Amino acid sequence: MKSANLLPTAAARTRKPPQFRGNNPLSGKLGYLLSSLILLVVFQVFHLFRSITITVSESEPPDATGILDKCSLLNTKPGPPPDFYARAQNDRFVTGTKPMLIKNATIWTGGDNGFEVLHGDILLDRGLIKQIGQIDSSSFAQGSVYHVDANGKWVSPGIVDLHSHIGVGAVPSSSGSSDGNSHKGPILPWLRALDALNTHDEAYRLSVSGGVTTSLVLPGSANAIGGQAAIIKLRPTEERSPTSMLLENPYEKNTTLYDPKVSFRYRQMKHACGENPDRVYSGTRMDTAWAFRQAYDKARQIKEAQDKYCAKANRGDWAELGAYPEDLQWEALVDVLRERVKVHTHCYETVDLDDLVRITNEFKFPIAAFHHAHETYLVPDTLKSAYGHAPAAALFASHGRYKREAYRGSEFAPRILAEHGLQVVMKSDHPVLDSRFLLWEAQQAYYYGLPHNLALAAVTSTPATVMGQSHRIGFLKEGYDADVVLWDSHPLALGATPHQVWIDGVPQLSLPASSTPISTKPDALQSLPKVPNFDAEAAEALKYDGLPPLEPTAAHAHTVVFANVSSVFLRTNSNVEQSASIQGDALMSVVVRAGRLACLGPPSSSCMHDALHASNGDVDVVDLEGGAISPGLTTYGSALGLEEIQGEASTRDGRAPDGLDKTVPGLAGGGGALVRAVDGLQFATRHAYTAYRAGVTTGIVSPQNNGGFLSGLSTAFSLAAPHKLATGAIVQRAGAVHVAIHRGEPQSVSTQVAALRRLLLDQTDGELGAWFAKVRKGHATLVVEAESADVIATVIELKQEVEETLKVVDGADEAKKKKLKVTIAGGREAHLLARELGQAGIGVLLTQPRPFPKEWEAYRILPGPPLSPKSQVVTLLEHGVTVGLGTVDSDKARNIRFDAGWAALEAGGTISKAQAITLVSTNVEKLLGVERDADETELVATSGGDLLGFSKVVAVISPMRGVVDVF
Ligand SMILES: *[C@@H]1O[C@H](CO)[C@@H](O)[C@H](O)[C@H]1NC(C)=O
Ligand SMILES: *[C@@H]1O[C@H](CO)[C@@H](O)[C@H](O)[C@H]1NC(C)=O
Ligand SMILES: *[C@@H]1O[C@H](CO)[C@@H](O)[C@H](O)[C@H]1NC(C)=O
Repeated sequence: MKSANLLPTAAARTRKPPQFRGNNPLSGKLGYLLSSLILLVVFQVFHLFRSITITVSESEPPDATGILDKCSLLNTKPGPPPDFYARAQNDRFVTGTKPMLIKNATIWTGGDNGFEVLHGDILLDRGLIKQIGQIDSSSFAQGSVYHVDANGKWVSPGIVDLHSHIGVGAVPSSSGSSDGNSHKGPILPWLRALDALNTHDEAYRLSVSGGVTTSLVLPGSANAIGGQAAIIKLRPTEERSPTSMLLENPYEKNTTLYDPKVSFRYRQMKHACGENPDRVYSGTRMDTAWAFRQAYDKARQIKEAQDKYCAKANRGDWAELGAYPEDLQWEALVDVLRERVKVHTHCYETVDLDDLVRITNEFKFPIAAFHHAHETYLVPDTLKSAYGHAPAAALFASHGRYKREAYRGSEFAPRILAEHGLQVVMKSDHPVLDSRFLLWEAQQAYYYGLPHNLALAAVTSTPATVMGQSHRIGFLKEGYDADVVLWDSHPLALGATPHQVWIDGVPQLSLPASSTPISTKPDALQSLPKVPNFDAEAAEALKYDGLPPLEPTAAHAHTVVFANVSSVFLRTNSNVEQSASIQGDALMSVVVRAGRLACLGPPSSSCMHDALHASNGDVDVVDLEGGAISPGLTTYGSALGLEEIQGEASTRDGRAPDGLDKTVPGLAGGGGALVRAVDGLQFATRHAYTAYRAGVTTGIVSPQNNGGFLSGLSTAFSLAAPHKLATGAIVQRAGAVHVAIHRGEPQSVSTQVAALRRLLLDQTDGELGAWFAKVRKGHATLVVEAESADVIATVIELKQEVEETLKVVDGADEAKKKKLKVTIAGGREAHLLARELGQAGIGVLLTQPRPFPKEWEAYRILPGPPLSPKSQVVTLLEHGVTVGLGTVDSDKARNIRFDAGWAALEAGGTISKAQAITLVSTNVEKLLGVERDADETELVATSGGDLLGFSKVVAVISPMRGVVDVF
């Protein structure tokens, strides 16, 4: 950026009449005459000149210098100062930070389109990456430099989140901290996210622990133009202020203005289209498009007026120019037209993408990125026809179908867009997804086919480039900001966790020395994980315009042989065990006849021979390539089974009355009614089929009541069934009785507890009374949804109280049998009572496998490594608590196998694979009162690995239906 050189100097701009100098070089008479003549001419010229000068200065405004400064900057393009790479220290350097030498690292630099990997050392000093290569540590004075031995582990640039609301959608959320959206109109380019940045957000430290170093904090999407975004670094600062968190902070320390002559900076702005702005202004898409055009027309008028004005002012033609045309409200939008603002547009559907692209061409400004962008993969040419350059697409990996706009989203979008040469960014939309796990989005994108170089770039160098900040972040290069992450495994391996995170060279994690073995993870996780081939699925997504058929189809053959199987996990009635029939590295075959396991053993075994013989050639052979057979999984915690699209009421079962705040209508049974989820079940939803194709065969769901007290009876159902009357559609009609106790409800926690106590101790009416009688006898399970340790402690006490009371009523011997079956669902603070829960025999269904303290009542999460040595799962298991893992979002049911695999990896070898599978199968059922005959439960075949890793689910074996569904 050479803006300083483009500026006219102060001297050049000052209009001074020429000086008449008295020393005349000519002499003599002629000389005198000539001199006089010249003098006369000069005098006349001087006089004339002076009069002109006076005329000009009469109309020249008093602030001409300031105006000409502005004019000189009109066409300046943003970028770093020209001497940027000569900087001796980062402008964010924290005085006193010791240099850091990371030895023997595997360094993913972001260079060479994400292919460059170096082996060597990195020196961080003065907030900068000073050197990368083989660095001789003996050259440093003793004690002057910290050393970290990476021992060959992976190092990457800090993770960059292109779409975050961290700090403006605060965590834990509170009534005064939701600052993402203004409701003051559709067009608000003058608002700034920085003005609302909460510095007391729990998420900063959590996200940093996931390797996130920089976030683009965007205003919300309730406005067509929501305002200007702020790029912040997430580390705590000495000043503790929002301003001090800005990536480009130091220029702003003294004042909120900065000097554009030093360097002109990109600004960032939020736009949104589609449902969100429509929703808030009760307008339509047409209204939103008009709002954009009207705003841009206004900005264009100002821009053109400025250009005309400056053309004249630069000529010194001030006549009738008047005041410089500008308007504080519109200056940022005018800057968009000057291509000095990176525009980030929340936009899902083709219609909206197309609208925005037309607007860019009408008003001539580029869009940096379409965010969410669920349908971009269907219309790459539309993106390519945008003004200036094709916008990047900032995506979720698998979060979709939560509203109509996201219904056609595809997990294959990242790879399809990349195939078209479009830039792909993975983003969190924090707190929609916890940005701590933004890397997981890149891992999933990679799993579904985005090349590894682009997958890592999608959360580092690509977002840095899209924001116009690739001169200092997003890459590991000498002279860049020292934002570095040292990982405990390959960053694209499931569960990769930072060992250390440096921001501006300042280490962010302080683990006690005893817990610093850099990795207890298997060596296999140190290299790029192998992922399946999804070419056919990606092609289907395109062919069917985002809605490929997902319904399972059964193999025609009566017998299916799975060959090259490396492990088999089978259910017993209450557990999962790894079959010992496979020894060492030998690969086995598994024969399935009419949907039932016939035998497993070496390909040469007689069992195999007999099975094949008996099939009369009616046999399909599936090569699992070292894959596995595992139990089908069971999901709980979301509305899966009671909804298709969360945001569309007409696709949902709706809200069940909670008995306290909303009483059950008399016609439905009044106070004695108990709502049954089985009556509202929906089958053949895309969520259900997607989960089924990921090995989740059973869903358990309870009536949805948004956290209100009484929910009702849960039910277990098949995710493969086309409708309720199909064979095996209902696994168990009634599971457990569900209630929820939360703070912040219309009725107090103590009122909710009083209601539960009465239901447990008193005979009450109707079906509700009948089911609580079963709960009292220990014949039915009571599930209490609760997050707070205080509420959970009360439930533990209540269980004891009820058991004691019943002992008195029924006699001591009888009481021995009468242990209540109680399960806590949710349970983010349950780890605080691990011992007490274990003693009370209360199990916990963690519906957030990786907890996030979004609500105050779940503030005290146990975050797990690297912030705490143990995870919540490990802590509960250690105290003998039965633990299940669930999920709160229907679209995430497909990921529970990865959740279980991740939990096992986090446990550092203390959880076996079989045990990890119980967390998402038998334990879930046990905790929710579902009893099954193990022989009737489904098995899942995965190719290229087991169910807990990046394998592919290729078949489900269903004994109940007598078929093998092949995908
Ligand atoms: C670097 O780490 C690798 C992996 O642990 C190790 O094999 C190698 O010897 C180390 N190299 C040096 C120079 O320490
Ligand atoms: C304020 O700005 C001046 C001039 O740029 C600079 O020298 C000074 O260090 C700044 N003060 C602080 C507290 O940053
Ligand atoms: C098992 O794997 C090997 C090696 O890839 C392959 O040659 C063989 O065909 C596979 N077996 C079957 C039955 O597909």
